[in-house]
Amino acid sequence: MGIRLAGLEMKNPVTVASGTFGFGLEFAELVPLEKLGAITTKTVTIKPRKGNPQPRLMEVENGLVNSIGLQNNGVEYFIENYLPKLKEIKTSLIVNIAGENIEEYEQVARVLSGHSGISAIEVNISCPNVKKGCMVFGKDPAMTKEVISGVRKACRLPLIAKLTPNVEDITVIAKAAVEAGADILSMINTVQHTAAIPGKKQTITGGLSGPAIKPTALKLIKQVRTKLPDIPIIGMGGIMGPDDAKEFFSAGANAIAVGTANFVNPKIVIEIIKSL
Ligand SMILES: Cc1cc2nc3c(=O)[nH]c(=O)nc-3n(C[C@H](O)[C@H](O)[C@H](O)COP(=O)(O)O)c2cc1C
Repeated sequence: MGIRLAGLEMKNPVTVASGTFGFGLEFAELVPLEKLGAITTKTVTIKPRKGNPQPRLMEVENGLVNSIGLQNNGVEYFIENYLPKLKEIKTSLIVNIAGENIEEYEQVARVLSGHSGISAIEVNISCPNVKKGCMVFGKDPAMTKEVISGVRKACRLPLIAKLTPNVEDITVIAKAAVEAGADILSMINTVQHTAAIPGKKQTITGGLSGPAIKPTALKLIKQVRTKLPDIPIIGMGGIMGPDDAKEFFSAGANAIAVGTANFVNPKIVIEIIKSL
């Protein structure tokens, strides 16, 4: 079951999708974390972030809309409070990072690369729920190149570029990320969406995840796999059980990440590993 994606070793090809599994430790009572192929953390930024005002999470038909806005306590807090415990868990650790500008991405990567126990950095250039950084960069090939090459220079860990589906041609962005030094691609982040809040004259705009986006995820993974036959891909977007996972491998993913399904059944990731 073990695989090697560029410089990232995983004991099996299954991880969790950033932001749907906290920093891993929150799930320790329910999930034997050492059984995961890797733990992927929620996005960490250089400074603490409060996130967006409510409402920021709503279940919709076949999915979830979220507009969390990258709430987190900042990289120093992560290093002091999570990293020491995460290091003790005998599996790989992927730390997802973001910034409001290129310097912030570089700073977080540099700070993290000074610590042991991190297996890879996932660069979030795809969150649709913030005004600065993230998807603003990930929608534009030139800016994608700038962010990824900046992070590449700031740290020597294997780099995963996390791509947004909210673009005209994802293969152009994928190529830009790889040319700039990404070793691995992860895809997809959430699909931009607006949903009416039942019983209120209000809507929530954010990112759609879950089964509703699986066809989009599979289509885009296939497109990138066709254009870039050798790049390792971590596939995600609506994987709710073992059968979905197998479809992602058929479309060209080398590994998979389980996201929204964790909210339905936190143990599903273990069931998927067992089934594979
Ligand atoms: C509540 C929630 C929070 C998320 N937070 C992050 C995040 O902090 N960083 C990130 O890169 N992706 C984040 N995502 C996107 C997921 O990692 C994943 O790319 C997306 O949800 C598609 O997979 P899924 O359909 O299996 O959930 C979040 C998704 C959800 C539902």
